[in-house]
Amino acid sequence: MKINKVLVIHGPNLNLLGTREPEIYGSMTMQDINEDLAKQAKEHNVEIDFFQSNHEGAIIDTLHNARGQYGYIILNAGAFTHYSIAIRDALAAIDIPVIEVHLSNIHKREEFRHHSVIASVVEGQICGFGLESYKSALFIAISRLQKED
Ligand code: DQA
Repeated sequence: MKINKVLVIHGPNLNLLGTREPEIYGSMTMQDINEDLAKQAKEHNVEIDFFQSNHEGAIIDTLHNARGQYGYIILNAGAFTHYSIAIRDALAAIDIPVIEVHLSNIHKREEFRHHSVIASVVEGQICGFGLESYKSALFIAISRLQKED
């Protein structure tokens, strides 16, 4: 039985969206993004929760605690994407499909952002589409949760 519930995790500095480098990340706040996703989830009768932390350990604890509670995770790990082996290992340890998202196209930016240490343990990566990165991930999560199999 699939768990009809999605968890969105925002990593470090994403709480500052809206004022943080708007030329890269746009003018929407994290709250605006969450509200949009909540609306999208509601339209499809899927429950959605949100979590943000600037702390690696808190994100790892949240991933562990998601076991048995969520059918899908959408994760923007922020800069941890590029170097947190601990988050990578947590993702590998939990049995929940995860979609990695980024507002910006990390492959078009500085060299150090090109590599994602989590990419090999998630279902897929969506980057470069701002809010639409998250919305596309939620679209995929919802369609897979609602598919009979
Ligand atoms: C980001 C890209 C990362 O490289 C950066 O460290 C972030 C945000 C994005 O959403 O584009 O904090 O994950």
